[in-house]
Amino acid sequence: MNITDTIHYVGVNDRKKSLFEGLWPIPYGVSYNSYLIEDERIALVDTVDAAFFDRFLAKIRDAIGTRPIDYLVINHMEPDHSGSVKLLRAFYPDMAIVGNKQTLAMVNGYYGEAGNVIEVKDGDELALGRHILSFHLIPMVHWPETMATYSKTERVLFSGDAFGCFGALNGGVMDEGINTDVYWGEMERYYSCIVGKYGSPVQRALTKLSSLDIDVVCPTHGPVWKAEKARVASIYDRLSKYEAEEGVVVAYGSMYGNTEQLAETIAETLSEEGIRNIVMHNLSKSDQSYVLTDIFRYKGLVLGAPTYNGSIFPQMEALLSKLEMREVKNRVFACFGSFTWAGQAVKRLTAFAEKMKFDVAAEPVEMKQGMDANDRERAISLAKAVAGRLKNGRS
Ligand code: FEO
Repeated sequence: MNITDTIHYVGVNDRKKSLFEGLWPIPYGVSYNSYLIEDERIALVDTVDAAFFDRFLAKIRDAIGTRPIDYLVINHMEPDHSGSVKLLRAFYPDMAIVGNKQTLAMVNGYYGEAGNVIEVKDGDELALGRHILSFHLIPMVHWPETMATYSKTERVLFSGDAFGCFGALNGGVMDEGINTDVYWGEMERYYSCIVGKYGSPVQRALTKLSSLDIDVVCPTHGPVWKAEKARVASIYDRLSKYEAEEGVVVAYGSMYGNTEQLAETIAETLSEEGIRNIVMHNLSKSDQSYVLTDIFRYKGLVLGAPTYNGSIFPQMEALLSKLEMREVKNRVFACFGSFTWAGQAVKRLTAFAEKMKFDVAAEPVEMKQGMDANDRERAISLAKAVAGRLKNGRS
């Protein structure tokens, strides 16, 4: 699998894991990408999850036979990429590890490897022969040591997790030779779940890397981007600015269907008011990775939940925590809630909106026990206010 005549893909696919990071479902699997640059000296860029080491080593040997690897460049230390470092060193004992100061400290901390290392700083270069590699620090995308490596010779950027996505590679690696349909949604979900907290560092990284003349982008997850690299960059740009399109996510918790009736009324009214993109998530059923993805995609957010044990319904609390963690910005917001004898859900949702500095379009609707005509009217008014605010933003 060649990216260019001298750059080989030696990554692997993981179709066994259910939850990436132990948190996020990966129904289409995930790839751990690694790249070999063959020159007078050979460099490997990143490794793979240790569970796949045998396959990884076989691919390396298929590509370069018995030649040694001179350098292992580490762009990112999270163990889905660095997991094979120690094993690889057992097979290539003279291989120097190339990384920045923080990377090398982590190599020692995770794997006890401190010898034969080359520390690089932002902008440093390393000559392999024909290839000149340069190193570009992009901290907090999404770990502090993250770095991108660029081959000036081939105009190829090895970007680490930046521009990555969920989804294993189904035979082909380069975007121009494969059907990429599955990856676009998985890219938004990957961004929302993994990188979503770090909008500002991603913006800084995009600005920094835009000065490079890039022909091919080789991330650590998902396809290699050539034909579609501009689309990929625009997705990362949009999401990291928290920009969203017109539409509303109505996410709710409901134990017996009472709160759900408010959600249904709100969604129906939004539709009657001309809002086309409406996504409803019952938080007892929808996986939160998909809820997050839709919240990153759409401008309107309506949240509702019952009171539970003197607090808010736990699945809603879990969502609020994820949104707070990701510092989601610039959403048109409204909320609703219910209680039987003492209400807490609406208080929590109101405090959440205040903390997030959301544009609150309507008074919350708080319902006691079952939905009556007055509750229904208030839910309709709430939805009309949200739709009106969104339509005001139309250009
Ligand atoms: Fe794919 Fe941040 O590791």
